Amino acid sequence: MDHFSYRDGRMFAEDVALDTIAAEVGTPVYVYSRATLERHARVFREGLSGLGKIHLAYAIKANPNLAVLRVLANMGYGADVVSGGELARALAAGMPAHDIVFSGVGKTREELAFGLDSGIGQFNLEHEPEGVALAEIAHQRGLRAPAVLRVNPDVDAGTHAKISTGKADNKFGVAIADAPAIYARLAALPGLALRGVAIHIGSQLGDLRPLETAYASVGRLIAELRAAGHEISHVDLGGGLGVPYREGESLPSPADYGAMVTRATKGWDVELMFEPGRVIAGNAGVLLTKVLWVKPGVRHPYVIVDAAMNDLARPALYDAWHDFAAVAPSGERMIANIAGPVCESGDTFAMARDIDAVGEGDLAVFRTAGAYGATMASTYNSRALVPEVLVDGDRYAVVADRIAAQTIMGAERVPDWLT
Ligand code: LLP
Repeated sequence: MDHFSYRDGRMFAEDVALDTIAAEVGTPVYVYSRATLERHARVFREGLSGLGKIHLAYAIKANPNLAVLRVLANMGYGADVVSGGELARALAAGMPAHDIVFSGVGKTREELAFGLDSGIGQFNLEHEPEGVALAEIAHQRGLRAPAVLRVNPDVDAGTHAKISTGKADNKFGVAIADAPAIYARLAALPGLALRGVAIHIGSQLGDLRPLETAYASVGRLIAELRAAGHEISHVDLGGGLGVPYREGESLPSPADYGAMVTRATKGWDVELMFEPGRVIAGNAGVLLTKVLWVKPGVRHPYVIVDAAMNDLARPALYDAWHDFAAVAPSGERMIANIAGPVCESGDTFAMARDIDAVGEGDLAVFRTAGAYGATMASTYNSRALVPEVLVDGDRYAVVADRIAAQTIMGAERVPDWLT
């Protein structure tokens, strides 16, 4: 459930009309709803009630805007970060360092040191050499780095290939069969306080069974590690819960997920950690856009909007579906293709889609754009970097400026030897 709904024929974000934001901030613009973010954060936590002490680390890659992070920090969420840049954001937003988990397959030594010096709560090690490097850096500082080992369970998450992470040939984690030996070697290093394992098999999961299978193999691994004398106190179960992108689509709820986790982790006796991203932010945002032209097409007209693949990359990258709705629908429908201004055929949001009839100058939204939207934006075709707005009841604030193409050009220079 979200807080984007129609009142008297106009779409509102909470109590703010989207046409007001379009008039005052311009389009394209991402619009987030604080109430929706808070609701999702609450519902996800409630789904996991009954699991004892848990740790919630919002995967900030989904939407790292500082204002969004502040909302979630206020809801008691920590952060799952995958780069020094994300770590800096989580800290800047006021997330306590000890609530931050550092994931990612390519952390540099500098990033590991940054994490240590910031006093973060946990490093999720992706492979043995990374663990050895972290142990060295920590040891030099007289520290023991809290860490878990990420394992790859070789499970097909049943999601888009580009966002699947738990298959044997994906780049993530160590093969679960190799984990006991690697764990033993890392646990012996004085610079590490190795305390458990981590897993994350993919994103936009619509079926809980692959997750349950993966968690079962983690359960067997924990037993094996304990039998070898290791103390296992933390297990990070990752993120991945999907959200509905199409009206009427039904996905497992946080409560369904919680019930599965309760079943799958029975008797583990550890602190469970979670890294939800999309399920928190996805439905809490829309991309507000304006129709520039309606251009005749061979079979269907092309609705050319002012948002493009550089603003919302998901359809071009993953053939992802985002519902499209007029801000002030007339009640008429049309079958159309929806595309942006970028000079690639890939800059197409939908083909032959049954949509609200729209014409030049009309406003519309792509829904469910709060996760992996603005954060994946680029300036391709020398377009401005899309701005972001956070709505809270009847007020809103621009929480990220539109960065003009001229500003970006200002960071470039032609060397004076290039005559
Ligand atoms: N933890 C780890 C280690 C991850 O790699 C990810 C996502 C998450 C947590 C959060 O997953 P979520 O709960 O959001 O599914 N750009 C793609 C999604 C990439 C996800 C990458 N990893 C998209 O737009 O669909």
